[in-house]
Amino acid sequence: MLLDKLKESNYTVVLTGAGMSTESGLPDFRSSDGLWEKEDPSRIASTDALNRNIEKFFEFYRHRVLGLQDCKPHTGHRILAKWEKEGVINSIITQNVDGFHAEAGSRNVAELHGTLQKVHCHMCGKEYDNDKYVNEQYQCECGGKLRPSVVLFGEMLPEEALLMAAEESEKADLFIVLGSSLTVTPANQFPLIAKQNGAYLAIINMEPTELDIYADETIHHRKIGELLKELDEGLAAQ
Ligand code: APR
Repeated sequence: MLLDKLKESNYTVVLTGAGMSTESGLPDFRSSDGLWEKEDPSRIASTDALNRNIEKFFEFYRHRVLGLQDCKPHTGHRILAKWEKEGVINSIITQNVDGFHAEAGSRNVAELHGTLQKVHCHMCGKEYDNDKYVNEQYQCECGGKLRPSVVLFGEMLPEEALLMAAEESEKADLFIVLGSSLTVTPANQFPLIAKQNGAYLAIINMEPTELDIYADETIHHRKIGELLKELDEGLAAQ
């Protein structure tokens, strides 16, 4: 099954979601203890929140930036980076904003939802390191508000990342989803694009997802870190 496909595929693309980073200590969004179980995303992670709920917005994102500082990529991130170097996988499309794939050494990564590692001015666009939020400095030199360089609800996704994700999905003959509920568009379209182009679609997620019916293989109730370790050992044994 998936191990055989990893061995025989010519072009493997991985789509990751928040379930890829829970074993690093970061919460996901829609599990029972997920972020959106405690906050309404439209009221806190939206451009509207920047205007109408700014104190809560700053507090929410400062908390997430501080949380990021205490966490780091886990073995699963490092295995994906190793597999890229070994040619086992070709690229990663991620919905995550933690920067952990790059930090673990992956190079071919499309960050669909931007990054928490940076903040920028909502008015002039000037970019700063996310330390500004750590130090509770929320204002640009121009007087504009500083916001994280993540895609807020109501905003367009970065053109370059979208283009790369579409191109990679069309080239894939093996497409693996790791740790996403696949509920958010357009990220949840890329597995379907790959499938329509003849790819073998494997969905690895603790809980069933909305796209399981399209998958050639689903693996639930397994932790991603452990599973990637097992697959890596299987590849090494070949
Ligand atoms: N191993 C396997 N699966 C896991 C693990 C784990 N260790 N931890 C969590 N999961 C699964 C959960 O069961 C859940 O179904 O990962 C999935 C994560 O789904 P979501 O929380 O919905 O996160 P994601 O799919 O990445 O959300 C997409 O929504 O709010 C937006 O911008 C936000 O990028 C995010 C997008």
